[in-house]
Amino acid sequence: MTTLSSAPAHSHASKLPVEIKQTKLLINGVWQNAVSGKTFETLNPATGDVIAKVAEGDKADVDKAVAAARHAFDKGPWKKMNARERGKILYRLADLVEKNIEELAKLESLDNGKPLADARAADLPLAIDCYRYYAGWADKIEGKTIPINGNFFCYTRHEPVGVVGQIIPWNFPILMQSWKLGPALATGCTVVLKPAEQTPLTALRIGELAMEAGLPEGVLNIIPGYGETAGAAISEHMDVDKVAFTGSTEVGKLIMQAAARSNLKRVTLELGGKSPNIVFADSDLDAAVEGAFFALFFNQGQCCCAGSRLFVEGSIHDKFVEKLHARTKKQKVGDPFAADTTQGPQVSQEQFDRVMSFIKSGKDQGATLLHGGNRVGDKGYFIEPTIFTDVQDNHKIAQEEIFGPVLSVIRFNSVEEVIERGNKNMYGLAAAVWTRDIKKAHRLAAELKAGTVWVNCYDVFDAAAPFGGFKMSGIGRELGEYALRNYTEIKTVTVAL
Ligand code: NAI
Ligand code: MG
Repeated sequence: MTTLSSAPAHSHASKLPVEIKQTKLLINGVWQNAVSGKTFETLNPATGDVIAKVAEGDKADVDKAVAAARHAFDKGPWKKMNARERGKILYRLADLVEKNIEELAKLESLDNGKPLADARAADLPLAIDCYRYYAGWADKIEGKTIPINGNFFCYTRHEPVGVVGQIIPWNFPILMQSWKLGPALATGCTVVLKPAEQTPLTALRIGELAMEAGLPEGVLNIIPGYGETAGAAISEHMDVDKVAFTGSTEVGKLIMQAAARSNLKRVTLELGGKSPNIVFADSDLDAAVEGAFFALFFNQGQCCCAGSRLFVEGSIHDKFVEKLHARTKKQKVGDPFAADTTQGPQVSQEQFDRVMSFIKSGKDQGATLLHGGNRVGDKGYFIEPTIFTDVQDNHKIAQEEIFGPVLSVIRFNSVEEVIERGNKNMYGLAAAVWTRDIKKAHRLAAELKAGTVWVNCYDVFDAAAPFGGFKMSGIGRELGEYALRNYTEIKTVTVAL
């Protein structure tokens, strides 16, 4: 909802578990209202209550932010400064995030609904690690010297691509911001970042910390706002050199189209998934049960790489399902701030409705509802952990990304069969294999069409390990050395000797 109200930014502050310190746009180092004066509400998914009103950026604000980022790139100290100094600023940002870890974990949990314990144990440490990892790269971005025919000296320079637009989603707001900012800042780019409208608060707070860390003005600009307005303005902009996006495949296509219509800006996309998680009869059954549970239910099922197609070999199927069911009964759905909560609410009413419609479709198409399927409570967006068995490949719940706590269990009988069925999907983000047979493990690792294959584990992330999709799961890789390629242009210099 959009309002023109000038009400205080956080009228419910007294009831909040954490102070809301920043709700404005960051442009050229100055926190400011939107040009239009508009704000939008960000909600607490556990209650549906308004947390704060946040400045609503639009095209006019994006224009200002891009101009600031352009000036900072072309004329500012950022690109010219000793690369090691850029690294130091990123190290300082990592230190500041670490120093404020408790505040940021609470803010993330409040705005997104994830259990506070998860934000503390996963989102924050991974983000801090990501900033440190890319801080280390800042002074190690090297070209090559290339022997060419004739009496010439030929070398390459890896130059920052320029002004980059970064559009991030709501499922891991702090972490996705670090995946985007780390490589962009390390390479010397300047940034216009748009957090998701559902979860703008932590991006803004980290923007404050980035300024405190010594980032020159205009290097990082943050424009909270809606996708169709602020997001579209970034992807259409003639002076944005590159756009990096994480979110739905549908919007990923819009972003590529916008890039094609405007200035052929470079595009990297990290999109959806329908990842096969394959359990063979020769696996460590208890580890596989725990892995299958975590692969889907972590983060309320709101993971692009969720193991949402659980293939279980016929000979152990019933025993496995029984153990999985017992494990699922232990899930504690409730207040994200309660110490024993293991599952919070979905992020929004829209996502809640979407997930419930998938549950209905599972029932309608004849899958067996083993567990859950209902709303929990009467406020907030809580859904029971839900498991369907007897799921067929042509069921909607086996084909489309649900992005919620709904697991489809699918029976299979042979290696050849599961490779073929596992690959029969438009997505190719991740896959996992559970087996004690090393040959089988490596065969599947090679044959599954996915950007990441986990063997006897799931959701193992590291700032150094690249992540991204085959097929309609995206273009390009984030994290690791590979991500630096997204943010650099290669220049060939040839000198006659
Ligand atoms: P979305 O793709 O609309 O939102 C992601 C980001 O894109 C947000 O910042 C949004 O403001 C922005 N955006 C939306 N429309 C845009 C446009 N026309 N131009 C530029 N930016 C735009 O995803 P949404 O609607 O929040 O969720 C829908 C589904 O997308 C989910 O159910 C899930 O299946 C998938 N999704 C996947 C994510 C992932 O991690 N790969 C993250 C979020 C959603
Ligand atoms: Mg919110």
